[in-house]
Amino acid sequence: MGALIYSAAMPARDADEPPATAPVCIVGASGALGFGLALRLGRARVPVVIGSRVPERAAEAAARASAAVPGGAFSGAENTEAVGLAETVILAVPFRNQAETLGNLRHALQPGQLLIDTTVPLAAAIGGRATRMVGVWQGSAAEQTREMAPEGVRVVSALHTVSAPALSDLDQELGEDVLLCGDQREDKRQAAEVIERIAGLRCIDCGKLELSRVTESLTALLISVNARHKTHAGIRLTRVPDEQWD
Ligand SMILES: NC(=O)c1ccc[n+]([C@@H]2O[C@H](COP(=O)([O-])OP(=O)(O)OC[C@H]3O[C@@H](n4cnc5c(N)ncnc54)[C@H](OP(=O)(O)O)[C@@H]3O)[C@@H](O)[C@H]2O)c1
Repeated sequence: MGALIYSAAMPARDADEPPATAPVCIVGASGALGFGLALRLGRARVPVVIGSRVPERAAEAAARASAAVPGGAFSGAENTEAVGLAETVILAVPFRNQAETLGNLRHALQPGQLLIDTTVPLAAAIGGRATRMVGVWQGSAAEQTREMAPEGVRVVSALHTVSAPALSDLDQELGEDVLLCGDQREDKRQAAEVIERIAGLRCIDCGKLELSRVTESLTALLISVNARHKTHAGIRLTRVPDEQWD
């Protein structure tokens, strides 16, 4: 049993605040992207379960998140325990650790759970350039996740183009799109429901999971843009209606 800490109970909400939702687990939330997502979701009154390979690291990240977002509800647990505490799981680990992580979770993930994969197969993961991708036999990191996840786990991919530093800087306005891929419209709708709790993120249905090979590769493009313009760029599509999920 991993160490588990909870922050103080969520305070009563102001009239203009959204109601609290079901918890979301983030595997790898001690890291850059996962921690930024944890802060933003916590601020949006989504209870967050921080998963780590090391229970103490999960607890420490939950404590840090609680300090940064005093009204948030954060807990921390070892990954296999953490994924059992939420219906929606966000996978936020480096590509080189993706397969190992999913292997470790194969008995912990349950049919029906929604798994949002953020993995980008950057060449940097194997010592290459951050502006290059590595080929994945399945077509994309997300399709590798679908292949490795237990039967019945619903896999969508998202958030590849959302910058961790921008998420972690809570004063930063996001104002960008999240490109969402998956084979089932309802799975994408549910993922969008979670992600769009974060102010300034709009989810766009980009098609089947196989389109992930394109959305994942946009990260390499953004890394190149960021290096040139000293920024943390995001993506915004034009002339796409805002009402996507009705
Ligand atoms: N950083 C960004 O701006 C960004 C944006 C979009 C997408 N992404 C994608 O999101 C994923 C996470 O990126 P990140 O920048 O957050 O990565 P990171 O900070 O380097 O790592 C995230 C977490 O992965 C976990 N992990 C699992 N197995 C590991 C291992 N064997 N060795 C080291 N760490 C391991 C670690 O958590 P524990 O040690 O606690 O288990 C670590 O904190 C990547 O696939 C990346 O391409 C990142």
